[in-house]
Amino acid sequence: MKAIIPIGGRGTRMRPVTFTANKHFIPVGNKPLIFYPVETIAQAGITEIAITYNPGQIDYAKEKLGDGSRWGVKFTFIEQPEPIGLANVVEVCEKWLRNDPFVYHLGDNIFVDGIADIVNYFEKEKPDGLVTMLHHAENKRMGVPYFDKNNRLIKYVEKPTQPPHDFAVPGLYFGNKNFFKAFKGKGRIRPSKRGELEIPSPYQWLIDHKFRVDVIEYTGVWLDPGKFNDWLETNQHLLDRMIVKRFESEPDTDSKIEGRVQIGLDCKITKSIIRGPVSIGDNVIIENSFIGPYTSIYDNCRITACHIENSVLMEAVLFKDLDKPVDSSIIGPHSEITGDDSQTYHQLFIGEMGKVSL
Ligand code: G1P
Repeated sequence: MKAIIPIGGRGTRMRPVTFTANKHFIPVGNKPLIFYPVETIAQAGITEIAITYNPGQIDYAKEKLGDGSRWGVKFTFIEQPEPIGLANVVEVCEKWLRNDPFVYHLGDNIFVDGIADIVNYFEKEKPDGLVTMLHHAENKRMGVPYFDKNNRLIKYVEKPTQPPHDFAVPGLYFGNKNFFKAFKGKGRIRPSKRGELEIPSPYQWLIDHKFRVDVIEYTGVWLDPGKFNDWLETNQHLLDRMIVKRFESEPDTDSKIEGRVQIGLDCKITKSIIRGPVSIGDNVIIENSFIGPYTSIYDNCRITACHIENSVLMEAVLFKDLDKPVDSSIIGPHSEITGDDSQTYHQLFIGEMGKVSL
């Protein structure tokens, strides 16, 4: 069995940080988002993973992901020439799959409790297709499965106005070689109104052609960081769940470290209070500051005389001399935020779609 993880798309909901970074590489829980699906797949014992990308994204992806060996897996990078739908992502992997069955894990979904049980179910039961489902209060904005009492999928509708229950389909799908029949011949699936080959279409095609498609409930925690607020919530959840006390470099004796705090290599932490859960990357300097719960500080950040909590700081952010606390913020890489008592005004240099609340 092989796995497919897409990193394509435009990331519009996470602008402005996605103007320069692919959404899948933005840190959450102090790790690039894409690392979570890769870990989940590796934990399920699958070693061959296709990473699909859109033109222009490959160099960045290769640089950040490498060949997969750090997770004990092998990546193959496959181009999806245009971002024309989640079903098309699988279609472009047909040759690489060589008739093997696959699991398709969206690159911006996190299945915190792993997917090994579901992979086992698919391998044992061998349906032609399998979609996961979970309870979700806002399933109107997702794919919704209609199924019978034997958990056979009978219909799969994208964003229905009146869902019959509160189940939704998260980004975890399975299929075998029959999946690709949906893309061929006269009766093949067609793009939706927005011009995309939507992921329900091949499953609906399989159902209509009497193939067996099952549904299975995912009972673990599922996280789907889409917009600004979701990103902070996901960060909180991951820090809560994953952070254990671990120092790879020691704070000075004038600092107080409370609760679960992770400190990376080559950090200098002086005269500061850090209250976990907090994750600090490598080569970070924190002096005369308070870092409060649910803060992720990525590599090479520098913080002097500031109070920061419940925030995500991306690579090499500089914070200095702020007199008010910073709370619930996401700060893009290489940003500089400094206070200046002698100024009677705010001076700002902000890129397109920046959001500042002073
Ligand atoms: C996509 C799928 C949808 C699924 C969702 C899960 O929606 O089309 O069926 O429920 O992912 O994240 P999108 O997030 O692209 O609107």
